[in-house]
Amino acid sequence: RGKRAFIAGVADDNGYGWAIAKSLAAAGAEILVGTWVPALNIFETSLRRGKFDESRVLPDGSMLEITKVYPLDAVFDNPKDVPEDVKANKRYAGSSNWTVQEVAESVKQDFSSIDILVHSLANGPEVTKPLLETSRKGYLAAISASSYSYVSLLKHFVPIMNPGGSSISLTYIASEKIIPGYGGGMSSAKAALESDTRVLAFEAGRKYKIRVNTISAGPLRSRAAKAIGFIDMMIDYSLANAPLQKELSADEVGNTAAFLASPLASAITGAVIYVDNGLNAMGVGI
Ligand code: NAI
Repeated sequence: RGKRAFIAGVADDNGYGWAIAKSLAAAGAEILVGTWVPALNIFETSLRRGKFDESRVLPDGSMLEITKVYPLDAVFDNPKDVPEDVKANKRYAGSSNWTVQEVAESVKQDFSSIDILVHSLANGPEVTKPLLETSRKGYLAAISASSYSYVSLLKHFVPIMNPGGSSISLTYIASEKIIPGYGGGMSSAKAALESDTRVLAFEAGRKYKIRVNTISAGPLRSRAAKAIGFIDMMIDYSLANAPLQKELSADEVGNTAAFLASPLASAITGAVIYVDNGLNAMGVGI
């Protein structure tokens, strides 16, 4: 049977999550997605109305099919964690079972198991502020949404992952080199995500035979990246300075995710894989 993937962090057709969904589908996987609760309505409506039809086309001419869209808010592990104001929020009250534990339970009920888990989400409310001006609250929110969300997802999904399965997240070079403008503790969150990739690879590898890797992706004009405000500059910088002077396409990250999820990558775990036209290898821009 084909593999089944759960991709957390798809809410439009511009981001890495969407491209990963397409590459995995093209390789024969069944696709489930987790969509942030506040973005759920517009995403489902757009899907239904055919707004994404053009970008749903796969290389063989068939269309990306998403078997099921689950509402998800990855900063909450279970209903006990959800504060009253969120519970009462109209957008949240309209959906149910969107904490991480509940989504994993729903997926288990619906499909019993998955083979591939993808974390393609991040949020840092103070991302536009330098680290020196970041509040404790903003910093912890960035870590909660962008790093612990992955620990929690894997923790709740790994028991329903088939042995030999693969888990992938998305990271950014700001974790290891200074990228002015990637603030609010987001650089710290990516550093945590990369460190956790190694520890989780050990733990999930030994206990469940699951591989855990992260893709350090180059700049893409996604919705999240546009909110940071410096994405065009980063794309221009990469074009000017990377070994490969071409714009990075989301599909190139999607295809790497498909490789990492496949048996072709059966000995790769605990790794940070750069998909950035080689920019990470440069010492100075030239
Ligand atoms: P995106 O906007 O397509 O994806 C981010 C998703 O996270 C959105 O769908 C948003 O709804 C979701 N999200 C935010 N908070 C959430 C929460 N609490 N629970 C559930 N979902 C939540 O943007 P993009 O850029 O494709 O981001 C995907 C991943 O790629 C992120 O981890 C990002 O840091 C990473 N990345 C992006 C780069 C870029 O230049 N766009 C470069 C390197 C890494």
